[in-house]
Amino acid sequence: MSAYLVSEATGWDLVPPTVLRDGPFGTGMCQLWVDVDDTVDLQDLAHSDHPDIQRMCVLDAVINNADRKGGHLLPTPEGRVYGVDHGVCFSADDKLRTLLWQWRGLPLTPEAVEVLQKLQADLYGDLGAALSGHLTRREVRRTGQRVEQLLLTGLHPMPSEDWPAIPWPPF
Ligand SMILES: Nc1ncnc2c1ncn2[C@@H]1O[C@H](COP(=O)(O)OP(=O)(O)O)[C@@H](O)[C@H]1O
Ligand SMILES: [Mg+2]
Repeated sequence: MSAYLVSEATGWDLVPPTVLRDGPFGTGMCQLWVDVDDTVDLQDLAHSDHPDIQRMCVLDAVINNADRKGGHLLPTPEGRVYGVDHGVCFSADDKLRTLLWQWRGLPLTPEAVEVLQKLQADLYGDLGAALSGHLTRREVRRTGQRVEQLLLTGLHPMPSEDWPAIPWPPF
């Protein structure tokens, strides 16, 4: 749910529409099923310079995604890419673990910088309030700090040497 809220705040539409629903085991998130173009090679896509993939790198850095595998990329027949399975995100500790390292250490796009500035403001307002319904105060605060860090460096993050930076299995 929180990953969807951040995706919506970016305006990048990277996470399929997600809502909370009542169910037999209580409240849970329910996500729109995205029909994929299964002729797309996920390995090629994950290593490509598709703009949605570059945007997803920024989203993952913000949400601290510890599980961006190839199978969590959904290419649509229209040429868009959605991301799913954000079950291991928003840890207060840095845990970015992803297949998408092709922009590591490279400058963020001007578009990404603009979006991060907007996110920073939103985290003090509606977005921060909405996230507080799903995350701890510390997790929300750390999200703001990750946005700030990205804006300070102006760079895509580098893989850490302190934890496995690539998910296993990768697909
Ligand atoms: N919203 C969605 N639309 C289409 N396919 C999806 C969607 N969510 C998940 N999937 C497919 O189902 C697979 C398993 O879902 P996922 O959320 O990764 O479950 P798990 O937490 O068990 O790994 C994904 O890798 C993807 O192929
Ligand atoms: Mg999964």
